[in-house]
Amino acid sequence: MSEPLRQTQKPLNLYIRTFGCQMNEYDSLRVRRLLAPLGYMPVSDMEEADVIFLNTCSVRDKAEQKVHSFIGSLRRLKAKKPSLKIVAGGCVAQQLGEKLLDRFDHLDLVLGTRAVGSIARLLEKINETGGRAACLPDTDTREPGEDDRGIFADGSLTAPVTVMQGCNNFCTYCIVPYVRGRERSRPYPDILREIRLLEAAGVREVLLLGQNVNSYGRGLDEKITFADLIRRIAEETGMLRIRFTTSHPKDLTEELMRCFAQVGKLCKHLHLPVQSGSDRVLARMGRGYTVAHYLEKVGRLREMCPEIALTSDVIVGFPGETEEDFRKTMDLLEQVRFDNLFSFRYSDRPHARAASFTDKVEPETGARRLVELQGFQAAVSMEKNLAEVGRVREVLVEGPSKTSEARMTGRTSHNRIVNFEASPGICGQIARVKITGAYSHSLKGLLLAGASEGGPQPGEN
Ligand code: SAH
Ligand code: SF4
Ligand code: F3S
Repeated sequence: MSEPLRQTQKPLNLYIRTFGCQMNEYDSLRVRRLLAPLGYMPVSDMEEADVIFLNTCSVRDKAEQKVHSFIGSLRRLKAKKPSLKIVAGGCVAQQLGEKLLDRFDHLDLVLGTRAVGSIARLLEKINETGGRAACLPDTDTREPGEDDRGIFADGSLTAPVTVMQGCNNFCTYCIVPYVRGRERSRPYPDILREIRLLEAAGVREVLLLGQNVNSYGRGLDEKITFADLIRRIAEETGMLRIRFTTSHPKDLTEELMRCFAQVGKLCKHLHLPVQSGSDRVLARMGRGYTVAHYLEKVGRLREMCPEIALTSDVIVGFPGETEEDFRKTMDLLEQVRFDNLFSFRYSDRPHARAASFTDKVEPETGARRLVELQGFQAAVSMEKNLAEVGRVREVLVEGPSKTSEARMTGRTSHNRIVNFEASPGICGQIARVKITGAYSHSLKGLLLAGASEGGPQPGEN
C-alpha cells in the first residue's frame, strides 16, 4: 500500500462514473488505484473534477445510448472548465475507438478495454501536450507492480477481483467477446497478492469475476481449475467470504458444485444465466446446452447444497422466439423458481450474429413478454423472501443502512440484504440475525445478542 506520491501538490479531483457490469466496477477501481500515486483523489461531485473517467457498457442498445447521452451532457462542463480532461474507457470505448473522439470533440482520451493499465501514462501525456488520443492495444496493459500500489483502506468490506477476462463463447446475441477479447486467466500468484493487500486494507469478502469463470486456468502455466482457485483462496487468505460470477451452465463442473457443499467460506449463491427455456432458442443463441441439461445441473446443485440461492439472466424476444418458446421460458422459471432474475428484451448488437437474423420479434411483443415475466418473477422473489422470516442468518455487516445511522445493513450468504438495529462497532463482522420481516428487495432482522463472530465455524475452510 503506498501513499499518493505528490503530497506537496494540491490533490487533483477524479470523478468516476461506471456503467455496466462488475468487470467494469473492477476496472474503475483499478483506475482509482493507478491514479492515486499521481495525486488524484476521488470526488462525488462531477463539477469539482479535474478528470472524469467514464467506464462504458455496450451490452444492449439501451446501455450504449445511455453512454452517448451522458458523454454529450459533459460538453457544458468542459466549456466551463477547459482544463478538465474527459476519458472514456470500457466497452463502448473499445467498440468505437477513434469514432468516439470524432463524435464528441470534448472527449480527450478513449481507452480500450485492454488499455486500463496505461491510464496514468496516457493522462500525463495528454496533460503535457494537450492532445487527444485513442488507445486500443491488442494485449492487456498491466504496469509491473500495479497490484502492489494504490489499494487503500476505504472502508469497503467487499471487493471485486477479476480472475479472468474476455470470452470465447460467442453467444449469437452478445457483443462481449468482441469488446473484451479472447479468454485469458490471471496467474494465481497475482490474484493471491491482490487479495492479501485487500485483506490488509480491511476487506472481508472477495467477489471473483470473469465472463465465464468456469474456464479459469485455461492457458496458464500452472495447472489450476476454478474450483482449485476457490479452495486455495479459502485456505490461503483471511477472507471470511468468497463469491463469484458468472458461470456458464455448459461448463459448470461437478467439482465446482461440490465446493458449495464443502467450502464453508463460499457463499451459497450461484448466478447461472439460462437465457431461455426453449431448446430451439437456446440452439440459435449458441448456448451449448439444452433445458434438460440445465435442469439436471440445478437438480445436482440442490442435491449437494439444498439451501443454495440461484439467480439467472433471461432474454425475451430473441429473433424467432414464438409464443410457444416464450411459454417454455415461463415454464422453466416456474420449475426452477429462481431467487432473483435479471431479464432483458433482446436488442441487436454490432458484430453479434443474431443481428443479421431476419425473423426479429416485434418490439411490442418483446415488451409484453418482459412485463409478464417480470411480474411472475417479482411474486416468486417476494415469496422466497417471505420464506426467510423466522430463520437465523449469518450477515456480513457492511455499515449503516441508507435510511438510518442506528440500523446496520449487510448480506446473507444467499446474497439477500438485511437491515437490523445494531451499533456500528459490529461492522466487518459476521453477525447472527433473526429474520423478522420481508420486502421485495430486502429483509428486516433482529441481531441475536452476543452472537457475532469473526468467521465461519471451526471445521469449515
Ligand atoms: N457472461 C455472462 C453474461 C454477460 S452479459 C454470461 O455468459 O452469462 C449479461 C447479460 O446481458 C446476459 O446474460 C444476457 O442475458 C444479456 N444480454 C447480452 N446481450 C444481450 C442482447 N443483445 N440483448 C439483450 N440482452 C442481452
Ligand atoms: Fe456473452 Fe455468451 Fe460470453 Fe456470456 S458467455 S459474455 S453471454 S458470449
Ligand atoms: Fe457491459 Fe462490457 Fe460488462 S458490454 S456488461 S461493461 S463486459
